[in-house]
Amino acid sequence: MLSLTAIVTTSRDPNSVNTHLAEQTAQNLGVPYIPRGTLSLSELRERHDAPCILVAKSGTLMLETPDGELFFHPNMSHLRVKNLRKGQHDNMAQAMGLAPGMSVLDCTLGFGADAIVASFVTGAEGRVVGLEKSPLIAAVTAHGLATFDRENEVMTAAMRRIEALNTAAIDYLRAQPDDSFDVVYFDPMFRHPLMQSENMNPLRYAADHDPVSEEMMAEARRVARRRVVLKETSKSTEFARLGFPEIAGGRYSSVHYGVWRKI
Ligand SMILES: C[S@@+](CC[C@H](N)C(=O)[O-])C[C@H]1O[C@@H](n2cnc3c(N)ncnc32)[C@H](O)[C@@H]1O
Repeated sequence: MLSLTAIVTTSRDPNSVNTHLAEQTAQNLGVPYIPRGTLSLSELRERHDAPCILVAKSGTLMLETPDGELFFHPNMSHLRVKNLRKGQHDNMAQAMGLAPGMSVLDCTLGFGADAIVASFVTGAEGRVVGLEKSPLIAAVTAHGLATFDRENEVMTAAMRRIEALNTAAIDYLRAQPDDSFDVVYFDPMFRHPLMQSENMNPLRYAADHDPVSEEMMAEARRVARRRVVLKETSKSTEFARLGFPEIAGGRYSSVHYGVWRKI
């Protein structure tokens, strides 16, 4: 069930691909598909009393929130993968202790940048599963990871390997056997955002803001074969609250990684 009222539509001049994508997405999410006609998005929003509108446009899904629009783009993961390929290190990959062939459960997929980096490092023999609680963000990211075609081959392969699921992390974790993923990862919405960046407002609007619960952490420790990793701001008290004995990340970095090791 969607907690945010949403509808799905197309751009004003839809072709059959966009119409099919909109209809399919509406059916998957269990929300109405509204043919766009000549209406503007604000007119549609008002007429259907729907704060969020998913728009199928040029073969992609865009999410229009009252705070701005969201669309899938590999963003920073492109630069991070480029640096890794040059032999530079990545703070997250290091905190996770990632190596080719490992499996990663990303409990907070968002727009998938961290999952793409993990997928690149773990490679074709590895496995990355990404969980996203917001059905709207999950729809945009899952479609983007499966179809984005303006990247190089290495990035494209890393994106395509990610299994993106619309679920709350706790539900998925509870159903997993002990020691079934090498790494379990959390990058929740920060308790205290680093800056009031306007770019982040649309994500903030649609995202789930709940903190990682003690039960989630306990389940993560059970499901992880090697490590549980939490990303938070460097001064966050979440590391202590959730029992992370080790903190990794650059000394001057504004974000740190809590690391809990099983082996
Ligand atoms: C800060 S963003 C993650 C960004 C992501 N690491 C990336 O690289 O794009 C947090 C995301 O996790 C999602 N989320 C928060 N709590 C969750 C939970 N319990 N289960 C699944 N997804 C969750 C939010 O909806 C949001 O999209």
